Amino acid sequence: MMNSLVRWVDERFPLTKMLREHLTEYYAPKNFNFWYFFGALALVVLVIQILSGIFLTMHYKPDAAKAFASVEYIMRDVPLGWLIRYIHSTGASMFFVVVYLHMFRALLYGSYRKPRELLWIFGMIIYLCLMAEAFFGYLLPWGQMSYWGAQVIVNLFGAIPFIGPDLAVWIRGDYVVADATLNRFFAFHVIAVPLALLGLVVAHIISLHEVGSNNPDGIEIKKNKDPKTGKPLDGIPFHPFYTVKDIFGLSVFLIVFAAIVFFAPEMGGYFLEHNNFIPADPLKTPAHIAPVWYFTPFYSILRAVPPMFGSQFPGVLAMGAAVAILFALPWLDKSPVRSIRYRGGVYKVWLALFVISFLLLGYLGVEPTNVWGQFGAWLDGADRATVVARICTVIYFLFFILMPFYTKREKTKPEPTRVTS
Ligand code: HEM
Repeated sequence: MMNSLVRWVDERFPLTKMLREHLTEYYAPKNFNFWYFFGALALVVLVIQILSGIFLTMHYKPDAAKAFASVEYIMRDVPLGWLIRYIHSTGASMFFVVVYLHMFRALLYGSYRKPRELLWIFGMIIYLCLMAEAFFGYLLPWGQMSYWGAQVIVNLFGAIPFIGPDLAVWIRGDYVVADATLNRFFAFHVIAVPLALLGLVVAHIISLHEVGSNNPDGIEIKKNKDPKTGKPLDGIPFHPFYTVKDIFGLSVFLIVFAAIVFFAPEMGGYFLEHNNFIPADPLKTPAHIAPVWYFTPFYSILRAVPPMFGSQFPGVLAMGAAVAILFALPWLDKSPVRSIRYRGGVYKVWLALFVISFLLLGYLGVEPTNVWGQFGAWLDGADRATVVARICTVIYFLFFILMPFYTKREKTKPEPTRVTS
């Protein structure tokens, strides 16, 4: 029965052919490690967000007069509404945890290098869409942080010379964040951006399967094929070997995910900010406005750059450049080897400095600028946190700008011809 049904489908749609190409006969390097869990996990989180989002949309009202109350209604009256909402809010933060680890893996093993440049570019566009998706979604509960966060971010566009002020009004659909803004952000959040994300993820995976996966040794398994079968000697079929491995990773991930949903859904104010449990009030600006943790490294860069002629534009430019420069990574890295295993000490030091700076910027971005005000006088009157944020910003950019020089010059170890583990 089953066989004849599959045959019937295959005669009309390349089902078996696709399963073979992408699963049972997709040869992946046999040395994948911990860092290779996160692509599959990102896929799972995308599905979790779409499914929980559909159920939230059934009860949510994109109307400035009703939005906050509709979220409270979901939390208190809709059966299991609290669970669906916490899954969605936890999913948003976990999406960024997973994607940041996924991107860091590419830095460790040079996965963005030729021939995977386009795969990386698709990844970067996904990252931009993800940021847009999170930003639009954050306005929807219409709490104080939703409102004032959106106000601050849209005002950044207002800092662009000449067109800025008109652009900000065009984005908001009003002179301040208002009902019109909420309606359009809802439209982008529930349909436009998720649609783009889905298409991009398909493109990301097609391009991965076209060139084949990189691996922790950073060598091409396609260079060593079995002369008889034509299959890579260091490759194993994705299914069943990596489906099993990914199911294990997924199980661990879901335990962590459930622990957060059930025991710490606000995560001390990092996943759901305390101020967002207060309804939006256009007449009352909160004393301390900070974006959610996943945006804070870039927010810190914005704050670290001083205004020029009273305009915030240099900071906005620096923040944009901090994201944009990641697109250029495949062309900045000139090392003869891909993986960190065979690079010299110079790259390792730069990468460590970059990671420390990124984390410090992230930390400083959630805190008020006077966070270290209480630690006595050093740096003589200067705002200590701002000075540290400036140093980290400089390191962040130097990591990329100097990359062509330090990667070309440093002494590397010889790469093996076959994968090592
Ligand atoms: C919704 C978000 C994303 C999904 C669902 C996704 C999915 C995947 C999957 C399933 C893989 C293969 C498994 C693996 O290598 O872990 C992969 C590989 C890869 N992804 Fe993503 N990805 C996403 C975002 C990103 C982002 C934001 C970047 C970088 C800017 C990126 C860059 C890469 C690279 C370079 C590879 C190849 C890694 C290698 O072979 O070593 N991805 N992605």
